[in-house]
Amino acid sequence: MRKVFLLPLVLLMSTTVGFAQSAVTAVWVENRENPLGVVSAQPRFSWRLQSDKRNTVQTAYEINLKEGSATAWSTGKVNSNQSVHVVYNGKPLESGKKYTWQVRAWDNSGKPSAWSKPAFFTMGLLNEADWKASWITPGFTEDENRPSPLFRKEFETKRKLRSAIAYVTSHGMYEAFINGKRIGDAYLTPGWTSYHNRLQYQVYDLTNQLASGRNTIGVQLGSGWYRGNIGFSGQYNVYGKDIALLFQLEIEYSDGTKELVISDGSWKTSTGEIQYAEIYHGETIDHRKEKAGWLNPGYNDSEWSSAQVAGFPKNTLISTINEPVRKQETFKPVKIFTTPAGEKVIDFGQNLVGWVVMRFNGKAGDSIFITHAEVLDKQGNFYIDNLRSAKCRNIFVLRGGQQEVFEPHFTWQGFRYARIEGIKGELLPENFEAVALYSDMEPTGTFTSSNPLINQLQHNIQWGQRGNFLDVPTDCPQRDERLGWTGDAQAFSRTASFNMNVNSFFAKWLRDVEADQVEGKVPFVVPNVLGKNEVNSAGWADVATIAPWNMYLAYGDKRLLETQYNSMKEFVESMRKIAKNDLWNTGFHFGDWLFYRPGDDNDGRAAVTDKYLIAQCFYAHSTELLVNAAKVLGKTEDAASYSDLLKRIRTAFVNEYLTPSGRLVSSTQTAYVLALQFDMFPEQLREQAAKRLADNIESYDYHLTTGFLGTPYLCHVLTRYGYSDIAYRLLLQDSYPSWLYPVKMGATTIWERWDGIRPDSTFQTPGMNSFNHYAYGAIGDWMYRSMVGLDTEEDGPGYRHIRVKPHIGEGFTHASASLKTYYGTVSGGWKKENDELQMTVEIPANTTAKIYIPAANAESVTESGKALSAIAGIKINGGEKGYVVIETGSGKYNFIVKK
Ligand code: BGC
Repeated sequence: MRKVFLLPLVLLMSTTVGFAQSAVTAVWVENRENPLGVVSAQPRFSWRLQSDKRNTVQTAYEINLKEGSATAWSTGKVNSNQSVHVVYNGKPLESGKKYTWQVRAWDNSGKPSAWSKPAFFTMGLLNEADWKASWITPGFTEDENRPSPLFRKEFETKRKLRSAIAYVTSHGMYEAFINGKRIGDAYLTPGWTSYHNRLQYQVYDLTNQLASGRNTIGVQLGSGWYRGNIGFSGQYNVYGKDIALLFQLEIEYSDGTKELVISDGSWKTSTGEIQYAEIYHGETIDHRKEKAGWLNPGYNDSEWSSAQVAGFPKNTLISTINEPVRKQETFKPVKIFTTPAGEKVIDFGQNLVGWVVMRFNGKAGDSIFITHAEVLDKQGNFYIDNLRSAKCRNIFVLRGGQQEVFEPHFTWQGFRYARIEGIKGELLPENFEAVALYSDMEPTGTFTSSNPLINQLQHNIQWGQRGNFLDVPTDCPQRDERLGWTGDAQAFSRTASFNMNVNSFFAKWLRDVEADQVEGKVPFVVPNVLGKNEVNSAGWADVATIAPWNMYLAYGDKRLLETQYNSMKEFVESMRKIAKNDLWNTGFHFGDWLFYRPGDDNDGRAAVTDKYLIAQCFYAHSTELLVNAAKVLGKTEDAASYSDLLKRIRTAFVNEYLTPSGRLVSSTQTAYVLALQFDMFPEQLREQAAKRLADNIESYDYHLTTGFLGTPYLCHVLTRYGYSDIAYRLLLQDSYPSWLYPVKMGATTIWERWDGIRPDSTFQTPGMNSFNHYAYGAIGDWMYRSMVGLDTEEDGPGYRHIRVKPHIGEGFTHASASLKTYYGTVSGGWKKENDELQMTVEIPANTTAKIYIPAANAESVTESGKALSAIAGIKINGGEKGYVVIETGSGKYNFIVKK
């Protein structure tokens, strides 16, 4: 079970026992620890050098890489400070092979670290021809409920094993077993991609799970995204109607001989206990229908039908590069009660995404229905109208006899409450447990402050991310939607990169963005299940440029940028083609989705922003990010020509949407926020525009009125133009519309709408009212990056060159945050005490930092009790409006500023 750690400031300030000598304490290949199934011909190696000596940098490294006992790559000592994303440059890596490697690094004391602990990776299947297995489908006619098909195969191992590696994928979802034991701990496999173009397979090391002698492989499938109901228009079979399995086990004996066990016509198929499984609607499991013993050798499958071999393509198969969905936190019931309507309901205390595990002892044939909901209504009744057509109901049918355990396999639910039907008498807490499932990304960020409501907001942001990062970044996890909405994903991508390491998560999904682009145009949702015309809504489509750039900043991942470059460029080109005289003012756009509009709007207070004004802003922004990417990648011609285009886009904006005195045609917060954020105003008109924004906020009595597109940038723009005080007022506002209003209403996740539950406890329209939608959680980025002030400089992305610049405001006595980067932990925090300001900063080895200390002059600042000027390694770099700016290297710093 994983816990969310909120680091108190004291902890940040204490020094930990550490590494007098530099040590390599973590290593990655392609951003993962010991990955199986790497397919890059030139994988990248990263390591973390740790030291508690200040100003430690790496001066050289050495990598040794072996296949068995043969060296495949030995770099010798390389004089370089690079420790992240070092590109492989050894002998060609071979399909299916396992490689072990170690690294050591020299620091500026001239001494090498010890060699890192041996790490490994395996290569995936590099060529289509490496797949010897055949696609197989059930050998019987499925009934209309489409019960989960079972596939089984017995085989024998003949000698002592050296290794056994399985490669598995399916049309639909699969769960595989070897001799009765589940293979791996990944769920909802093979995950979701643009299946027509890309289908992931997973790799499992079964070396320690095979028995000598007889073995049985068992696999069950569910319809999943492939052919289940997906999309809100009731679509089924989006990718095809056939459910199918592809399974290849490569066995190597210790005498060097090899054997393959592959899916083919010799496999047997039947159905079992899973009678029905749909992502939106839930799963029906009837224990009486279990084929007892089918997972073990010796089971009599003579009544089963032989699998059918199918000719489905294999040229779309890709290895999995992101972390799989795994089981995470578990929750016990916090309350069991009967609602006024007489229903028995369990409260798990947290709106989460996953499912309920039930342990129960009852009579054969008894059915227990578990329905899921996020909220109770005003009267305290179970509320499911906002799930729309999704049934979100699991049905468990008992075998009878001893205690039975039930949990679904091919569905999930977004819920805090579960309604239990079919149990007479009292519900016992020990019979029910909720388990959260999400992509197993490393938690990297913590944020905490002196304000408990803001800490709850951070909690809600993180749970919004957990609930909606299930292999694909989804809008929501509960109703008949759960789609990869591109606008939501771009809005939240930077915040996401603080809370967890989302490098590989986005690297994978962005490949699907490109795969589903239609002549460069980016779909509303990816994978696209809505149709080829549902594309290029401003602020949604821009995920194609925004997310790659954010990943480049957060992780320094230049290859991701390179891989996405074409997608970025094609998207910008698609807008250029649509635009007339550099104005993008046609087509459908969602606009500033879910902006503030009062019910009775006689006074014209609804914050409607012209959709084409928004489109022009994002057109400029995406073009600018393309220019940035072109510069990083050395594409000078593109950089120059798109810089020209960018100028023209801005001029067109000025001509169309701005009055000579600097007023925008839409006088909304979002209009000013976007135009300021993306530098659409001529320089001389920016300050007055920022003032208009500030005045507008004041006129709403310090409430925001922004929707999905304005919200992520609102506080950043205020801070940039010197209105941090207003940003703080917005953050601390707790009446509708505001970030804290839902918190005060008891939210444990971020809501889709500012008023999902209205002040009078009634609900917003059930047609669009999710209580787990991360988009508005984008404020997290400002909390980390401006409030505490942890940021990366663009010239040293991935926090190689760090900027710590807190903006301290009213209403808090302290705030602190930490971020685990590839280099190590970056942290910062401030605390106001009496007449002093304490500021702590931690900078990892092999990075440098520019630290902005809020002080009038260097003389008023001490570090660990000494004058700043007396500290070796700290370079005082003058000042900047209210800050003393210093440059320094790694280490932990405790600054005190006297007023
Ligand atoms: C989704 C949003 C999405 C929007 C498009 C909704 O149904 O839940 O989050 O971005 O449609 O405006």
